[in-house]
Amino acid sequence: MLVSAEEMLKKAKAGHYAVGQFNINNLEWTKSILLTAQELNSPVILGVSEGAGKYMTGFKTVAAMVDAMVDSLGITVPVALHLDHGTYDGAKACIEAGFSSIMFDGSSLSLEENVEKTKELVAICKEKGMSLEAEVGSIGGEEDGVVGAGECADPDECKAVADLGVTMLAAGIGNIHGKYPENWAGLSFETLDAIQAKTGDMPLVLHGGTGIPADMIKKAISLGVAKINVNTECQLAFQEATRKYIEEGKDLEGKGFDPRKLLAPGAEAIKETVKEKMELFGSVGKA
Ligand code: 13P
Repeated sequence: MLVSAEEMLKKAKAGHYAVGQFNINNLEWTKSILLTAQELNSPVILGVSEGAGKYMTGFKTVAAMVDAMVDSLGITVPVALHLDHGTYDGAKACIEAGFSSIMFDGSSLSLEENVEKTKELVAICKEKGMSLEAEVGSIGGEEDGVVGAGECADPDECKAVADLGVTMLAAGIGNIHGKYPENWAGLSFETLDAIQAKTGDMPLVLHGGTGIPADMIKKAISLGVAKINVNTECQLAFQEATRKYIEEGKDLEGKGFDPRKLLAPGAEAIKETVKEKMELFGSVGKA
């Protein structure tokens, strides 16, 4: 059964560790992440972007697949199925489809509109027992080959959004999605400290978990980060393992294309990446 992320994140914040959100794109991704969480006895959040949802033919398919897979694999650790960077319409669709958690990313809207839409979604999620993540201060990343700097959120805006009753809050602290540029200034712990001082027990979320040095991850957790999102690192691991497999010519054994063979090394590589991250985040054994 899929669960809201609320309890696992409250426990993480109180216990000074973070739960990993790993984004899924297909069956292999999902299976690797679930099996690793179970093996390490760690809670886990499966993230689904709107693009990945479309790729998998829609949020209903994703919810049905994940729900059935948790059951078929005998997964007993807490698993939340979470919409990543959702629009208002995407959030509504995931609530309908059976997700257990959503992110409403209203960071591109005015604060007033972000607040108004977040309030409406807070009420729906509360009624359905789902968790809701809000974002303040946009998180940069690569767009059309240009890497935008990560913004720092305003702690007062964070407090205003946290007070709406959201479960967790993603606040920009200089983090960006994807690979960090050479001249990246690092995370702004000053901003994080100020946000935590204003938002108290609210679990904070760190996006762009790929490529943040381990010492910065640990410091962010010590300052209230209880959920860390990872996507690109799993993609890179998958790509590298698949490339190696093809270069070795092992899929060319006369039987034609066998997806079960071709995708297996990548799936194993994702398991390794997820394991490393769960160990770094401190969620191992916390289910
Ligand atoms: P990365 O792709 O940098 O790991 O970030 C993932 C993320 O934050 C998804 O919301």
